[in-house]
Amino acid sequence: MANPSILGAGTTAFVTGASTGLGRAFTEHLLAEGVRVWGTARETGRLEELRRHSGFTAVVLDLHDRAQATEAFAEAARQAGGFDLVINNAGYGVFGAVTSTEPELWSRQIDAMLQTTLALARLALGEMDRRGHGCLVNVSSLAAEFPIPYMSGYNVCKAGLSAWSESVLYELTNPDIIVIDFRPGDFRTPFNNAVQHASDSTDLRARQVWQRLEETLAAAPLPAMAADDLCRAVRRHSSGVVRTGSFFQARLSPLFARLIPNSWRRAAQAGYFKLS
Ligand SMILES: NC(=O)c1ccc[n+]([C@@H]2O[C@H](COP(=O)([O-])OP(=O)(O)OC[C@H]3O[C@@H](n4cnc5c(N)ncnc54)[C@H](OP(=O)(O)O)[C@@H]3O)[C@@H](O)[C@H]2O)c1
Repeated sequence: MANPSILGAGTTAFVTGASTGLGRAFTEHLLAEGVRVWGTARETGRLEELRRHSGFTAVVLDLHDRAQATEAFAEAARQAGGFDLVINNAGYGVFGAVTSTEPELWSRQIDAMLQTTLALARLALGEMDRRGHGCLVNVSSLAAEFPIPYMSGYNVCKAGLSAWSESVLYELTNPDIIVIDFRPGDFRTPFNNAVQHASDSTDLRARQVWQRLEETLAAAPLPAMAADDLCRAVRRHSSGVVRTGSFFQARLSPLFARLIPNSWRRAAQAGYFKLS
């Protein structure tokens, strides 16, 4: 059933990573619905176009600086008088083999994309508890259930984020607070351009996987589709996992994965990434 208190004229949302890709599409969709959006990037210059919209407020937030990120959220929440919707979307990839990805690159990514993101999620949920309603969306990935080869740190972050979302569902007692574990498949965003490459990511197998990742992203659906699916899920007003993406990735693959042995699933996935 539609819940007018989350989406609609005058409601408030906080979106991390609003400058490009999925976060930008979420933000534009929300603004078009009359929602007042506080959207983040690491530099306000990246939010210039969105700032032309009277319902948009630019926020500087860097997941690599937890104190700065949590303070930026708290300050925006004070300005907004609290958020009806919080979308934890910001993130990036690191590509390279486990044994030769620099430890600093690995731990920085987990620190930013898991620890800081969860610190923001915790703050958002606490504030929703006090206000008595709200919707928290953690943008995970289908990588939480289908790990992407040579992106182990990213897979850890997304699986951890999904596990956190699932965990809090056992703690929620107020039906007016919902948590959505949003899992996109591939979407055509600049995500790959921002991927940081470990020093060994040029061996043949890694190159094959990278080529596959480039091909699939180039042929993937546009971010507006993810924004439509997310807003529909928010309107349904029920907590849980929401998958979005092509029919093959978001519908068929999870269904088959439940029906076939794990070893078959892994073999099919290796084939998909040209690793077999
Ligand atoms: N595209 C896909 O196929 C796909 C699939 C599954 C899941 N996802 C997830 O969806 C989310 C958005 O991805 P996207 O595809 O839209 O990527 P994108 O176009 O590269 O956008 C990433 C956003 O995150 C922000 N960001 C990156 N690193 C940050 C940091 N250290 N601190 C704060 N903000 C940071 C960027 O802001 P700046 O302007 O500051 O760079 C940008 O707004 C990510 O969590 C990604 O893992 C994407």
